[in-house]
This record gives sequence, C-alpha cells and structure tokens, in this order.
Amino acid sequence: MVKKSIQDKMNEQIMHEIFSGYLYLSMAAYLHGKGFDGMGHWMRIQAVEEQMHTMKFFDHLLERGGSVKLAAIKKPQMTWKSPLDAFRAALKHEQFITGKINELMTLSMKEKDYASRTMLQYFIDEQVEEEDTAEKNVRMLEMAGDSGQGLLMIDRDLAGRVSPITLPAPSNG
Ligand code: FEO
Repeated sequence: MVKKSIQDKMNEQIMHEIFSGYLYLSMAAYLHGKGFDGMGHWMRIQAVEEQMHTMKFFDHLLERGGSVKLAAIKKPQMTWKSPLDAFRAALKHEQFITGKINELMTLSMKEKDYASRTMLQYFIDEQVEEEDTAEKNVRMLEMAGDSGQGLLMIDRDLAGRVSPITLPAPSNG
C-alpha cells in the first residue's frame, strides 16, 4: 500500500500534469489563432502526452491501493506576445515540472518506496527529453527572429510531429 505522503504528492503531480496539458492546449489555441497550424498541431500533441503522464500517476496510485484525489485546475494563460514567447513559456514550464518530479523522487527515496522510484525513473528520463525538445524549439524560433520565411519553415517542421494516438482531424472552419 502506498504511503500517504507519497499519495498526497502524486495527487499534486496529477494536478500539475493535467494543468500542463491545459496550458499546452491553450498555447495550441493561440498558435492556431495566429495561423501557425503546424506549431498548434505540435502543442496539441504535447497536450495529449500530458494526459498520458497524468494517467501513469493515476494508475500507479490505484494499483497500489491509494486514492486518487483530483484538485482544482487553475485557468491557463491564453495569449502570448509571439510564438517564441509561447515556446519560451513552455520551456519554463517543463523546468518547473522537472523540479516537481525531482521532489517526488527525493521523497520516495526518503520513504524507501522502491516501487515509486522505479516508476519515477521513467519521468526523470522523460523530463530530460521534454526539456531538450522545448529548448530546441526555442532555439529555432530565436534564430528565425522576425523572418516570415523562417517562421513558416518552423511551422512546417513542427507540423510533422506524430501523435501517440489518433487525433480527430482539425476543423477548417
Ligand atoms: Fe508531463 Fe511535459 O511533463
């Protein structure tokens, strides 16, 4: 049975992961609204991935006889100064999430919760990838600057991101 200290922290993490998806959905809406459909598509998939992260914590708690307690989700920011501003905010958010995962790992070590440590190792590795990808996106956008052609190329590039699940086709309306 999972200890209450771990359960509470994992429930908090469920809230952070759901909020991450909410934030990326908000960024997707902003980017689509500005005509950057490839970047919007990339953020949509990022939101789906956050849902998958959420479910890993959800299932881990249930498998170990814990209780899932869903917390309130705050309203995400809805607009940014530019695509670069949005992607910088995404990077900053991933750095925040890495800190939260590290806190969870530290707690699981203190509590000698070996099952949690194994499960959290997935997220330690995942966050390295998440930050790396977010940094690359920021660097590409910094290089493009105000160049319309550069932004178009990045938009086309990010349109190629493959979703782990089948997403409904975006409406053109
Ligand atoms: Fe679930 Fe992007 O961290």
